[in-house]
Amino acid sequence: MIKLYSPIILLLLIFTSCGSNEALENEKESNQVIINQKVRDAHSYSNVHEIFTKHLHLDLEIDFNSKTIYGTARHHMKNNGTDTAVFDLKGIEIIRVTTGVKGNEKNTDYVIGQEDPIIGAPLSIKVDSLVTDINIYYKTTEKSDALDWLDPHLTDSKKYPYLYTQGQAILTRTWIPTQDSPQNRITYSADVKVPKELMALMSANNPTQKNDSGIYHFEMKQPIPVYLIALAVGNLSYRKIGKNCGVYTEPTMIDEVAWEFQDLKKMMSAAEELYGKYEWDKYDVIVLPYSFPFGGMENPRLTFANPTLITGDRSLITVVAHELAHSWSGNLVTNATWDDFWLNEGFTVYFENRIMEKIYGKEVADILALIEFQELEVEIKEIQESDHPEDTYLKLALNGRDPDEGMTQIAYVKGAFFLKTVEELAGRKKFDDFMKNYFKEYKFQTLTSEMFENYLIENLLKPNHIKFDTKEWLYGNGLPKNCVKIKSPRFEYVQKLSEEFANGKDIFKGKGSKIKRETYITQEWQAFIRKLPRDLSVEKLKLLDDKLGFKSCGNSEIMTEWFVLSINAGYTDVRPEIEQFLNKVGRRKFLLPIYKTLSKDKENLKFAKKVYSNARKNYHSVSQKTMDELLNYSL
Ligand code: BES
Ligand code: ZN
Repeated sequence: MIKLYSPIILLLLIFTSCGSNEALENEKESNQVIINQKVRDAHSYSNVHEIFTKHLHLDLEIDFNSKTIYGTARHHMKNNGTDTAVFDLKGIEIIRVTTGVKGNEKNTDYVIGQEDPIIGAPLSIKVDSLVTDINIYYKTTEKSDALDWLDPHLTDSKKYPYLYTQGQAILTRTWIPTQDSPQNRITYSADVKVPKELMALMSANNPTQKNDSGIYHFEMKQPIPVYLIALAVGNLSYRKIGKNCGVYTEPTMIDEVAWEFQDLKKMMSAAEELYGKYEWDKYDVIVLPYSFPFGGMENPRLTFANPTLITGDRSLITVVAHELAHSWSGNLVTNATWDDFWLNEGFTVYFENRIMEKIYGKEVADILALIEFQELEVEIKEIQESDHPEDTYLKLALNGRDPDEGMTQIAYVKGAFFLKTVEELAGRKKFDDFMKNYFKEYKFQTLTSEMFENYLIENLLKPNHIKFDTKEWLYGNGLPKNCVKIKSPRFEYVQKLSEEFANGKDIFKGKGSKIKRETYITQEWQAFIRKLPRDLSVEKLKLLDDKLGFKSCGNSEIMTEWFVLSINAGYTDVRPEIEQFLNKVGRRKFLLPIYKTLSKDKENLKFAKKVYSNARKNYHSVSQKTMDELLNYSL
């Protein structure tokens, strides 16, 4: 599609006053340019080294009737003297493009290039070397994959519609035309119009109450990568938990959510004690409807969370620790490309574990780490047998592929164990000082694995004469031999209990008569279930369900483990519970193992396909995409 408008001559010169901040600004800018020149981002068309957004203002109107966002994206840019500005675009319809500040705009030429199925199309806009303001008028479409428009029946109250966005990794371009590469950081503001009965929230400063106009104004003053721009619209209420933190959710769930996340305050103090000041002023969590494809998403100032975290016993709070930790690793210091994803997630899993240790003790933290380690071991084997065995390297090579494919336990858990291993070699004190300095040194910047490697060698390994082969971890297959080993007597105990049960011992007799679901924490039960043989008799599975009620215990982590084992063992009694779960929950982490296990046998596959054909519409596009591929589903 090509549209021609007469080229514009920019007449307006903007003189900005030169305050004392200018030196800092210039330094940041040149730093940004140096980073940009070095790094090629295979998942963005944007020419950020020639021209890049500094501030984005959004004018948005949210239309629930047509499930469309009508938007204007006003990019204020730093232009290094180019005649073309390239943006990323996917599933968006462009209406017109202008240059110049609001009210003094001129149409300009633009071309939309060929669409790639993964990264979309380049939007090339003609500018002249003086242009700093570009305005893109657009509307979203059915192909705007970031957006989940929910009919009222999919919400808790079942009364109001709902909309939320998911930007990471490269979905922001499906609802806002942007330079969608994490290596550029922008500030943003927005004016958002929604139906009067609903409230809008963004990853920015937020209202705590509905207003009568249905128009909300937002500011994000700290520079962020565009994948962290987020919006949620629904019938929402707010509850303050601490001085600078609180929760949002539908009014029908606010009491439960506030109770579940009471420890938020403690977590924030623990995190700040560990690695320095919280840089985002406020930290709130919004609990979304069940379709949200992740457990949590670290949108700055406003973590998005899945209602499966609300268990009534605070047992899945670790996901909140994880998203909070991203306020440092990921949001403050960001991976420059999706090949460096482990810099976001590996650091965050490490940091999350340290927060958990500080609040709930080392015993609990070790159990959590071991559960993750088991998942890493399984995934390493799977990857080694796949078409991309090189995906076990921490530094990925995802060009030509969906960055989603890098979202494996390698980035998360191998990444975390890299840091755990260095910590053990350096000693905790030195390691923590190093991390603190790292966050300070690189705050509000983006980093490649190579830059981190260099920083680690120069600031921790060399000065302390530590022998550690960074290359083996970054570019080596599987798990290096020097990886730390975690020993947990509690973990071993439940594994032994599991073995004894499988071998015929009545573990509920005598001393065991007191065993209840609450006797062990979620992750201990996971370890217990994982240790049971896949061909455990249906009788024994039934006995466990009778005694412990796994199949309908309401804890999605335990239920998923239980469903997977039940399917493998041919315990078909649980089918109604599985079907109910798959219809309700859209979190990919749970859907994938359940559907995958069902796919392994003909009869179960038939059941899976039947359930999916009905449940699919309840999922976000992220989960749909993964399950479509798994089940060979086509519309
Ligand atoms: N940032 C991720 C979610 C994500 C990653 C979305 C890549 C899109 C692309 C988030 O912080 C995350 O890791 N969530 C996990 C939490 C868990 C590891 C504690 C989840 O949702 O399961
Ligand atoms: Zn994460």
